Amino acid sequence: MCGIVAYTGSADATPILLKGLKSLEYRGYDSAGVAIQTALGTMEVLKTAGRVEELDALVAESDITGHTGIGHTRWATHGVVNRQNSHPHVSCDGEVALVHNGIVENYLELRTELAADGHTLLSDTDTEAIVHLIEMNMRAGQSLEDALLRAAGRLKGAGTFVVSARNEPGKIVGMRTGNAGGIVVGHIDDGNMMASDLLAVLPYTNKVVYLDSGEQAIITNASVIYRNGDGDVIDKEIIISDRSAESAELGAFPHFMLKEIHEQAERVASAMRGRVDFETGSLNLPEIPFTDEQIRNFDQVVLVGMGTSLHSAMMGATLIESFARIPAKAENASEFRYKNPVLNENTLVISVTQSGETADTLAAMEGAAAQNAKQLAVVEIDGSQATRMADGSLLVRAGLEVAVASTKTMTNTVVCLYMLAIHLASIRGTMSQEARKAAVSDLASLPGGIGSLISQEQTYKAIAERLVTRHHLLYLGRGFMFPAAMEGALKMKEIAYIHAEGYAAGEMKHGVNALISEDMPTIALAPAGPLHEKMVSNLNEVKARGGQVIAIVTEGDEIVPSIVDEVIELPAASEALSAIFSLVPMQLLAYYTAVALKQDPDKPRNLAKTVTVE
Ligand code: G6P
Repeated sequence: MCGIVAYTGSADATPILLKGLKSLEYRGYDSAGVAIQTALGTMEVLKTAGRVEELDALVAESDITGHTGIGHTRWATHGVVNRQNSHPHVSCDGEVALVHNGIVENYLELRTELAADGHTLLSDTDTEAIVHLIEMNMRAGQSLEDALLRAAGRLKGAGTFVVSARNEPGKIVGMRTGNAGGIVVGHIDDGNMMASDLLAVLPYTNKVVYLDSGEQAIITNASVIYRNGDGDVIDKEIIISDRSAESAELGAFPHFMLKEIHEQAERVASAMRGRVDFETGSLNLPEIPFTDEQIRNFDQVVLVGMGTSLHSAMMGATLIESFARIPAKAENASEFRYKNPVLNENTLVISVTQSGETADTLAAMEGAAAQNAKQLAVVEIDGSQATRMADGSLLVRAGLEVAVASTKTMTNTVVCLYMLAIHLASIRGTMSQEARKAAVSDLASLPGGIGSLISQEQTYKAIAERLVTRHHLLYLGRGFMFPAAMEGALKMKEIAYIHAEGYAAGEMKHGVNALISEDMPTIALAPAGPLHEKMVSNLNEVKARGGQVIAIVTEGDEIVPSIVDEVIELPAASEALSAIFSLVPMQLLAYYTAVALKQDPDKPRNLAKTVTVE
C-alpha cells in the first residue's frame, strides 16, 4: 500500500501526479515514484526511497514531460524500504509500468515461475510479479486491459492496480479486486484521472466513480470505459462529490492534528445539524435504512472497527446496550473476521470506520453479509467501500481528517453512535420520554464544552512538557471512561512514541498494580458519576504505591484534587458526554508531548492513515 494517482489528458502529467501524491502524504508512506509516457514515446520511471519532495527534486532535474503518467507512495509490506522496492515497477523491457496497493499472497510461487520463464525480477516485492505477468500476457497479443484482467486472475489476495504501457499511448487501466483500498475515477473535461483517494482528484473535478471489486476503468484523454470482471463493458453512475479541495489546507496551524482538534466544536455541531430537534427532544435519522419492525427484532448489535474506530465502537456498544437494551459488543475487526461468530438476519452489524476502506473492517463486513446480518456503516467518507457494502450509512460529518492520528472523527463518530442509540431506544420503547429528552438535550452542551476545553490548551501543554521524560504511562477508566482511556493511551503511543496502556481501573489489582511507581504516571479518568467513588479508591491505591496521578475530573470535584498531583477539569455532564469531553484534553496532551519531543504528530513513524491491507 499506500497512495495511487494517475492522469492522462492534455496537461503535463508530472505536476498533477506530484500534487496528487502530496495530497496523499497524510496516509503515511516511505517511498514515492512516478512513471511517465513521455512526449518522445518512451516510458520513464523516477522513484526514490524518501519523501515526495525528493521525488519532486528528481523530476525537476530531469527534463521529462508527458501527458500520461502514474504515481505511487509506498508503505512497505514486502521488501525493505529502498528505491528498487518502491513503485512503479516495470516489466523486463521497461515498457509496462504498474503501481499497486494490496498484498499478493502467492507472490513467491509466481516469482519462481516467472524467473523460470526468463523474467528478471529486480525487487524483493510481491508487486513486481504482477507487472511481469502483464508483460507476458501482452507479449501473447493481449491489450493492456485484458492483460491486467488475466494477470489479476492469477493473484491471491485483494489488490488495486493501475497500469500504463508504452505501446498503448495515452491509456491508463485501473482495477480493483477484493477490498484492499479503493480506486476513484475522476471525470475531467480535458482528461481523466484515477486515485486511491478522492482528495487527489478533487482539485480537478468532483465528478467521480468508485470501482467495485472485479471492475476495471480504462481512461484516455477523451474517454472512460468501465468493465466488469468478465471484461464486459458496464455503466457506472457518476457521483457528484460535495467535498471541497481546500479542506486540506493547514491555515494558521502548525499541524493538521492541532487544526483538527480545534475544529471539533464546530464539527460536532455539523454531526447534529438537521438530526437533533432540541425543542421536542427527538431525532431525525432518515439514513437509518431499517424498518421499525426490523429494529424491534434486532437481538444483538456487533460493532466492528480498528484503532481509534474500535474505541468509538466500544463506546457505541455501551451506549446502545444501555439506551436501547439490545445486547451489544464491539469487536476488533481483524479478530472478528477469522472467528465463526453467531450472526443472523436479526443481528445489526455496525462498521465504524473513518475511511470506509480499512481492509479488516471490510472483511468483517463481508463475513456479516454472508450470514445475512443487517449492516450499517458509521463512516466519514461517502462513497467509500463500507458505504457501498452496508445497507445504509450514517455519515459522521467530521470533514476531511488529514493527520494520521484520528481526533475529530472519533468525537463525531461517538456523537453519531449516541444519536443512533437513542433512535433505536425510541423505536424499541426502552427509554422513557423524559430520559430521551434529557439525553438529547445534553447534546446541546457539546460544542460549547469542547470549545471551553480547547481554550485551556496551555494547561495541557504545560502538563505535556512534564511528561516528556517518561517512558511509560497508564490511562485508567471505568464504564464509558474505559474506551476513552484506551484511546488516550493510543494517541500517546501513536504520535509521542511513549509506551502507554489503557486499562479498566478494576483490573489494577490483577496485575498492573505491580508496575506502579513514580516512574509511571497515571492519567485517571474520574469524572462525576456512579463510578466516581470506585475511581477514588483506585487513585488512593495508586498514590499509596508512590504513583504520580494526573486526574481528569468534573469541574467542582473536591475529592479527587485533594488526592492527586495534577487535575484537568471537564464541564459537568453525563457519564457518556464526559467520555466524549475527556477525549479533547487527552488529544492535546498527546499532541503537545509529541511536539515537545520534536516528533511530527501528523506523520507518525511506521503508521498509515488508511490501512488497506491486513
Ligand atoms: C489506522 C489509522 C487510525 C484509524 C484506523 C482505522 O490505524 O492510523 O487513525 O483509527 O486506521 O481506520 P478507519 O479508517 O477504519 O477508521
